[in-house]
Amino acid sequence: MTSEVVEDEMEFYSKAEKYWKDVPPTVDGMLGGYGHISSIDINSSKKFLLKFLRDGPNRTGTACALDCGAGIGRITKRLLLPLFKAVDMVDVTEDFLTKARTYLGEEGRRVRNYFCCGLQDFSPEPNSYDVIWIQWVIGHLTDDHLSDFLKRCKVGLRPNGIVVIKDNMAQEGVIMDDVDSSVCRDLDVVRMIVRRAGLNLLAEERQENFPDEIYHVYTFAMR
Ligand SMILES: C[S@@+](CC[C@H](N)C(=O)[O-])C[C@H]1O[C@@H](n2cnc3c(N)ncnc32)[C@H](O)[C@@H]1O
Repeated sequence: MTSEVVEDEMEFYSKAEKYWKDVPPTVDGMLGGYGHISSIDINSSKKFLLKFLRDGPNRTGTACALDCGAGIGRITKRLLLPLFKAVDMVDVTEDFLTKARTYLGEEGRRVRNYFCCGLQDFSPEPNSYDVIWIQWVIGHLTDDHLSDFLKRCKVGLRPNGIVVIKDNMAQEGVIMDDVDSSVCRDLDVVRMIVRRAGLNLLAEERQENFPDEIYHVYTFAMR
């Protein structure tokens, strides 16, 4: 539980904001120096997502996606814009969203909104998104804020929509990172928070072919 490792909630958020303000607005910056794994990440995400977008009676739509903790738009550019008619981005770091406007190039014209906001304070517009993608950012929210945010995401989904979380998972418990002011939770804790938010898990997959020295990364689909 984050309540056991986060002593001062205000400081937990302000330290993270300060950390990200000093990070260069590049793919390498988004991935903490692991820019070279971006393609492996995106290719696996595409495979995972396409299972839900394929033809079928309960197929997930492709009108609009929301990229949460979007940074400069690494995922928006290579995963979401190629698959959705429109994309919205939300991130707490203004400079990253400013960079996104050039980084995304011509296709970036299909980004409808750039919301500069912490996810703990953000409410997706009800019934608006086919996919809400939340990658490498849940560690910046306390358990209660994450669970409340996921509840609001559920309201933001269109029929047959899905919320996707892709993130680092600890082997056991909740581990604090004092450098970027984030936590890393184990699989059971994440599953518990998802359940508490009233979402049902539809799929869960471990990312393959990532470097051995980093945390295991899992992708979850839910609605
Ligand atoms: C590790 S980067 C990941 C960026 C992007 N999801 C990707 O995979 O390329 C974390 C991002 O989360 C953003 N962030 C940190 N705390 C946040 C918060 N409370 N609400 C929204 N965004 C946050 C940072 O500004 C940064 O862009």
